[in-house]
This record gives sequence, C-alpha cells and structure tokens, in this order.
Amino acid sequence: MDSAVNASNKPAQGSPGAQAPRYQSGFGNEFATEALPGAMPQGRNSPQRVAYGLYAEQLSSTAFTALRGANRRTWCYRIRPAAVHQPFARIADGALVGRVGDAQTPPNQLRWSPLPLPSAPTDFVSGLFTMAGTGDAAAMSGCAIHMYAANRSMKDRFFYDADGELLIVPQQGRLRLLTELGILELEPQEIAVIPRGIRFRAEFPDLRSEGGSLEAARGYVCENYGAPFRLPDLGPIGSNGLANPRDFLTPVAWYEDREGDFELVAKFDGRLWGARIGHSPLDVVAWHGNSVPYKYDLRAFNTIGSISYDHPDPSIFLVLQSQSDTPGVDTIDFVIFPPRWLAGEDTFRPPWFHRNIASEFMGLVHGVYDAKAEGFMPGGASLHNCMTGHGPDEGTFEKASAADTRVPHKVTDTMAFMFETRTLIQPTAQALALPTLQADYWKCWQGLKKRFDPTRP
Ligand SMILES: [Fe+2]
Repeated sequence: MDSAVNASNKPAQGSPGAQAPRYQSGFGNEFATEALPGAMPQGRNSPQRVAYGLYAEQLSSTAFTALRGANRRTWCYRIRPAAVHQPFARIADGALVGRVGDAQTPPNQLRWSPLPLPSAPTDFVSGLFTMAGTGDAAAMSGCAIHMYAANRSMKDRFFYDADGELLIVPQQGRLRLLTELGILELEPQEIAVIPRGIRFRAEFPDLRSEGGSLEAARGYVCENYGAPFRLPDLGPIGSNGLANPRDFLTPVAWYEDREGDFELVAKFDGRLWGARIGHSPLDVVAWHGNSVPYKYDLRAFNTIGSISYDHPDPSIFLVLQSQSDTPGVDTIDFVIFPPRWLAGEDTFRPPWFHRNIASEFMGLVHGVYDAKAEGFMPGGASLHNCMTGHGPDEGTFEKASAADTRVPHKVTDTMAFMFETRTLIQPTAQALALPTLQADYWKCWQGLKKRFDPTRP
C-alpha cells in the first residue's frame, strides 16, 4: 500500500475546497490507500472489527469468477454501508433516454452543432442529454452516448450509475469529481472514468455560481454497459506506446463525514431514481482494489503513425477498449485524434474516404479536426453509422491532394475523439429533433467533382 503517500494525508472532512487532489499512478493496479492511519485492515479483507468503527464492504465490478486479468473489485472501509438510505422512488429523467430505438435510425451522415446551454439551474445529472446509444443497459451490452451542459455544482446530491461505467470527456470548464474513492480534478483534454456503481458528485469550479467566469460547463459521456474499459494489447508495437499505464491517475482515499438531508440518485434500468439519505455516501476512509475511478490526460497519448507511406487504420489511435465476447472485436473503442506529425510520402494524409462495419460517434474537444475544414465545432458531434460513406470534405480533399508530401506536416491545435462501436448507434428522437442538427452536412461532399478522365492516365 502507498503508506508513504498517505502517512501525511490528513483526513479530509467537510469541504474539500482547499485541498489539491492527490493521485496514485498506474492502470489496473491493486491500489491501497487510507485517509486515516491504520484504517486499512491488515492480513484480511473483513476482520471481525474494523479500525475506527468502520464497516467493510466489497464492490465487485466483474463476475467473482472472471479471469484474474479481467477481475475488478474493491474493498471499502466506510463510515456507513451503502445500504443505509431510504427507499428509492422514480424521479424525472429529464433528457436522459434509457432505451434507444425511439426513432428510426437514418443511414445519413449526421452532425450537430453544440447543444444550447441551460438557463434553469442544472447540475451534471439533470444536464445529461442522451444523443444516441446501442444495445441494452439491462443486458449489460452496448452503451449510451450523452452530452452534458450544466450551470450548477452538486453539493447535497449524489449519483451512481448501476447501468454502466462512465467515461467523461469535458469539453468546456474544469470538472471536479468527488467520488467514494477520492477526488479527481480534470480539465478539457483530460478524461475520467468512474466504475459502475461508484457514488459521486460533480462540481464545476469554473462556473459563475462557483466564482468562475463560465456560464455553463459541458462535455460528453459514454455510458459503457459492458465490460470495463481496459488498455489495449500492443502486439508488434511492443511494450510501450499509445496510452501508457503510468499516465493514468487514481485518487488517494478521501472522505467526508457530513450529515444532512441529502438526495442519492441512481440510474438503474435506464431510468432515474431518487432516495433521501441522511449522510454523505462519500464516506470511504480506506480502500484497496482495482475497480477504481481514474483520469487520463489525452495530451500524454503516445501517437503512432506511418513513417513511410499511407497511414494505419484508426485503431492505432485507441486509448481504451471495452471488449466483447468475440476476440479482437470491441464493444466500444475510445479513440482520439490528437496533434501529430504526418510523414507519409506520396500519401493522402487526412483520414481517407471509408465505409466501416463499425459505427462512429465523434466529438471535438478542442481546435479543428483534420478531416473537416469547417462545420465540426468544439462541443459538436457527428455520427457515421455502419456502411455510411464519409471522409474528408471537399476543401480538405483539395488541399491534401495538392500538398507537398516530401516534407512532414504537423497537425496542431486539435483534440477530436470517437466512441466507436461494433453495433449500430441509434440516435434518440430528441437528438434528431435538435435545432443544432446540421441539415446541410451532406453538402460538404457534394462538391467532390468527377475527376475521372480515361484519356489521362
Ligand atoms: Fe469514420
């Protein structure tokens, strides 16, 4: 355990405002951390009595019998067990859609400008807007894709998602996630993953209501119903590269011993449920295990590409994967398109024209995406489903076809990402009805003129 780190980790009670979060590095580690010295049982997971009068509780994120390399669970030593709360009752779902398929999925290329910002008080949970999804939360297969736009931090409201693991991609405004296992702070171009079931609240330090200057914070969420995200195998790339394990950061133990009239919100079977709870559920004083929240700075990604000609398939940009039961085929790939050098000689350097069996939901965190000269805005989104033809727009094609490929070129000022799935991504009826859906997106390819001339080889 990281006793060296935590020996000086003063117990954090009440407001965490002044504290800088502290992290442990690595992906999939067996972490161990305590916020009070001696809170962690030694030699066993569930002693007859736990130090400080804490309760022992295990959180399992995979089947008990999952293979060791895939097995995820965490032991928590907490002030009260998770069972201590009043009964749940249904609350309004807002713009959260639990079951996709409420609209007919068009085979069109789809693109949206950023969502309108909320005017009424809206926190992370009430600010979730379901754009699309695939599969089924109850069957623990597939994912939902949400966007959030929020103008309030959560103070006395806590949330957990029984339907899936949350991959959160902030686009505007920093995000502070106070979880049962510690505090994560991230800014745009960083991501966080919160395991299924972990309770947390979300604060936005840059909001006007928090003393900042932003009207609203926003970002993207992939709610992964299936196997927890993992780092891909690297094959011939070798033992380093892509997202390196040590760049993943997991918080040290932190807790709040706070009582009051609070609300615990659960996302369960596609719907929201609320319960009264008389204490903060963020009361885990010590924990050990490998089912943990973590953050990762996308700018740390070790981007790999061709140094001769062509470029590899975009799977080379894979950050995290949720594997399916079919070897080599993922349920969800989280892929990024970061700044990078393009060096391929006599090569069309932007992403090529393509049709894939996979379906691709893209977002843009920052800058400009290199396949689209215009129209794809930070905070916007695009969806190219199975076998839907797409690729560079006319302007990008013309420019790349004329570029001098004897010299390398650096793509700068960009951070695009993709949630790519093996199954169809079905947009929700509300996403298809958004005024931000760009009705003229299809036109970006219509200027690609016929260049064929059989007399000119
Ligand atoms: Fe694509």
